Order: sequence, then C-alpha cells, then structure tokens
Amino acid sequence: MKTIKSICCIGAGYVGGPTMSVIAQKNPNIKVTVVDLNQQRIADWNDQDLSKLPIFEPGLDQVVEEARGRNLFFSTQVDEAIDEADMIFISVNTPTKTYGKGVGMAADLKYVELCARQIARVATSDKIVVEKSTLPVRTAQAIKSILDHTGNGVKFQILSNPEFLAEGTAMTDLANPDRVLIGGEQTPEGKKAIEALVNIYGAWVPKTQILTTNLWSSELSKLVANAFLAQRVSSINAISELCEATEANVEEVAKAIGMDSRIGPKFLKASVGFGGSCFQKDILNLVYISKSLGLNEVADYWEQVIIMNNHQRNRFANNIVSNLYNTVSGKKIAFLGWAFKKDTNDTRESAAIYVADKLIDEQAQISVYDPKVSATQMQSDLNYLNTRTETENKTYLKTKTDPYKALESAHAIAVLTEWDEFKDYDWQRIYEAMIKPAFVFDGRNVLDQEQLKAIGFQVQSIGK
Ligand code: UDX
Ligand code: UDX
Ligand code: ADP
Repeated sequence: MKTIKSICCIGAGYVGGPTMSVIAQKNPNIKVTVVDLNQQRIADWNDQDLSKLPIFEPGLDQVVEEARGRNLFFSTQVDEAIDEADMIFISVNTPTKTYGKGVGMAADLKYVELCARQIARVATSDKIVVEKSTLPVRTAQAIKSILDHTGNGVKFQILSNPEFLAEGTAMTDLANPDRVLIGGEQTPEGKKAIEALVNIYGAWVPKTQILTTNLWSSELSKLVANAFLAQRVSSINAISELCEATEANVEEVAKAIGMDSRIGPKFLKASVGFGGSCFQKDILNLVYISKSLGLNEVADYWEQVIIMNNHQRNRFANNIVSNLYNTVSGKKIAFLGWAFKKDTNDTRESAAIYVADKLIDEQAQISVYDPKVSATQMQSDLNYLNTRTETENKTYLKTKTDPYKALESAHAIAVLTEWDEFKDYDWQRIYEAMIKPAFVFDGRNVLDQEQLKAIGFQVQSIGK
C-alpha cells in the first residue's frame, strides 16, 4: 500500500470536524480535506473568527488555527476531494429512521449509501474507505457491494474505525484515546489498508493502544461500548429512584460501589437522563438487529435501558408538577441548560427537550438560559417532536441570553445541564427575584443544596 498523502472526510459535523482537525494537526504531511453539502457549515469552518466555528468544543479552535490552510481544508467541492484522496472517511449523520420499516429503531443509512454511490461514481484511482459514522453491524458489506458493483473498476478497501470521543472532551479524547479501533478484511490487501490507517494514528497514539480486528467486531464494538455506558447511567438512575424512596443517598451509593475495581468510579452520575446523538440511537440499533435475528431476550434486555431513561425524564417533569401543588399552568419554570451535557452546543436527544415538552403539555411557561445553545435551536428541537404547532411552541418556550432574566419571577428552577457557571451564580439575588416558595429541581446534582436551603429555597435533587 502506498503511503497516504491525501485524506477526504465526507461530513463536517461533531465527529468529522474535530477528528480530522487532530489527524491534520498530527500528520502535517498529509492533506486533509473535510467536505460537506451544507454550505453554511463549511463557511463557518472557514471563518477567520474562530468563535464562529459551527460546533463548540473546548480546545478545537486552537487546533483548527494551527492546521487550517496548512494541510487542513474545509470545502463543498465533494467530488474533487473524493477523487484526489487516497483515503476517504465517511462521517455523515445516521439518524434513527423516521419512516417505513424499522421506524423509530433502525439507523437511516440513506446518507451513508449516498456517499458510497458518490465515491463509486467519482473515483478514478484505488481508495481506502473508512466508516467513521456509527453504523449497524454489516454496513461495511453494503458499502462494499455498492462500491464494487457501481464503481469505475477501481479497487476499494473498506475499514471500520469507530469514534469513541465524547463531546465536550473531544479534543483530549482524540489526543489521548483509551484505544483506537480499526477493523478490516483479513486478506493481504485488507491488512495493508489497516496498516495504512494504523500509521496515521501512530503519529501520536502508542501502537499498543491501536487495536485491529475484523470488520464486524469493530462495527459491533462501537454499539456495545455505547450500550454499556448508557446502561451504567440507566442503572444508577434506577437506583436514584430507590434512594429517593428510602433514606439512601445515590452519591454515597455510587461512591461505595465505584470503589470496587470491578465496577469502577466513572459514569455513575445519576441525572435527569442521558442524551446525545449516540446512546439512544446505538441501543435502538442493537435492539433492532437482535430482533431481526430472532434474539428476543437480547433485544428486551437492552431495550430496558431506553425504557428506564424515558422514565427518568418523565419522573423529573412529573415531580416538578406535583411539588408545585399539582399545577404548573401559567407558571414560569426556568431551565438552566438545554444542551445534552456541559461544554457542548449539541442538543440532540437532550433530556431538556423532553422535560420541556411534558411541562408545556401542562401549560407551563418555560424560560431557558443555556450559555451555548441558540433560541432557534431550542425551538427547532421542540418542533421536531411534533407535539403541537410551531406557533404554540413559540408562545410556551422563551429563551433568554441573561440567566438572571430567565430566572426572574419564576416559580421554579430546573437544572437540565451541568454547566459549571451555574454553581457561581448569585443565588441570594435569584431567590429574591423569584415567586415564593422558590423551588429548585436540580436534575444534575450540581448546586450546593445546603447553601440554597439556607437562603430559603425548596430544593429537590436526583436520588437524595
Ligand atoms: C458518547 C460516548 O461516551 C462516546 O464514547 C461515543 O463516541 C459517543 O457517545 P457523548 O454522547 O458525547 O459520548 O457524551 P457522554 O459523556 O457519553 O454522555 C452521554 C450522556 O450521558 C449525557 O447526556 C450525559 O450527561 C449523560 N451521563 C453521562 C450521565 O447522566 N451520567 C454519567 O455518569 C455520565
Ligand atoms: C460475589 C461478589 O463478587 C462478591 O463481591 C460478593 O461479596 C458475593 O458475590 P461470588 O459469588 O463469590 O462473589 O463470586 P464472583 O466472582 O462474583 O462470581 C459470581 C458468578 O459470576 C460466578 O458464577 C462466576 O463464574 C460468574 N462470572 C463472573 C461470570 O460468568 N463472568 C464474569 O466475568 C465474572
Ligand atoms: P455527527 O455527530 O455524526 O458528526 P453531524 O450531523 O454533526 O453528525 O454531521 C454530519 C454532517 O454530514 C452534516 O453536516 C451533513 O450536512 C453532512 N452530510 C450528510 N450527507 C452528506 C453527503 N452525502 N455529502 C456531504 N456531506 C454530507
């Protein structure tokens, strides 16, 4: 296999953008071009003002500044970049299907298939095609079939290289990954392709941390890693409800079990529910694949993780209503946070959307402050649920750019994202501006409960 001189990445999103920025930073001799159909997104990636980058990720701006224009390029010229590249990453979105067979469960692979067809049409030299998007097991086979049957007679090798970065810590996750996983065909050509990608990561990742497997193990490992992580969150959330019904404290329980090295301390934070583009989608994928194979017990086992997560969100909303004397109609409920976790502007599957929807069903007035999420994004998230008209959503959901304005005259505050800045607010001032009794529902256990209680707040948190 010749050395890789040029890489193209299709999809300039939360995965493609940061990953390619780091690959370019660490491999200055390789030209990396990230392409996207979305012109505005590419314009934002090219903006001289680095605060305009289309995704907010701590540390990303410095890496882009270092590599952009040197060997990192963002472009809408998809065909050109494909043809020029020795290696092409597919990093497009694979949302859960919203129509037809497998609706609400299976991954919609239309964007991936379109990419494969485009590569087949355009390529005039041999290519290595790398699956970066999360995909159901055996997608590589579909990509290969399209490439081999519709291409211009050039040779393709397919690799699976799942992404394990978490948003908010993407840059450190990429710089110091626990492992890099590369799956490929176990033929001489397949092994050469694997080697080519190993060398790219080898520019900064120790070889002992680069695992190589067959294609299917790699594809499945991605789904399983996310399913196990999500399962930990649902497990601790199930225990949080039990703690609330007893005298136990979920933080004490999490600490006690986490010190068992077989369990480990990470990912045991009880919350209003997990969100993000991966967890729910990947588990639904796992469930769908299992069902398709007739493995009903396996499917039911994993589906329970989602059922528990939906329950946790609903429980949080219901708890607000019951504490506010069983009615929130016409009451202002202020949300602190809308993103699915701190340090990102991503809102996909955020618990905040579902909690807002449920409270609006009860005719509450929602007033939101999030340091990184725009009003347009919040409206579009709520509209996507299709519960009511866009006009109605607009009258019930308001966004404020000043947290104190969002909280003024509220009956209750709900913390939906664990942004650090919330801890440092002037809580005395907030208390004075609220309707009494002033309630705080901390869905992330980030605020100092004792301090708030001393001021006069009625405080409820998760699992205490
Ligand atoms: C996840 C995986 O961690 C990452 O490896 C994969 O590549 C993509 O999916 P991400 O969704 O970006 O990453 O964030 P993550 O930190 O995993 O958090 C997911 C959700 O779980 C968030 O809503 C977070 O708030 C929630 N969570 C996480 C908890 O509620 N409690 C925890 O203890 C950990
Ligand atoms: C368990 C707990 O580990 C221990 O902390 C508690 O005090 C008592 O219960 P024990 O039942 O003695 O201890 O053994 P353990 O090693 O946990 O194994 C339990 C069962 O799980 C065994 O049948 C074991 O074969 C099985 N197991 C364990 C697996 O099948 N796979 C594994 O990866 C680990
Ligand atoms: P992820 O979190 O997986 O990165 P995003 O939605 O953030 O998902 O990014 C995926 C990107 O892929 C979007 O910007 C979308 O415009 C782009 N995309 C989807 N299909 C194609 C395609 N056929 N060609 C180029 N870009 C595409």
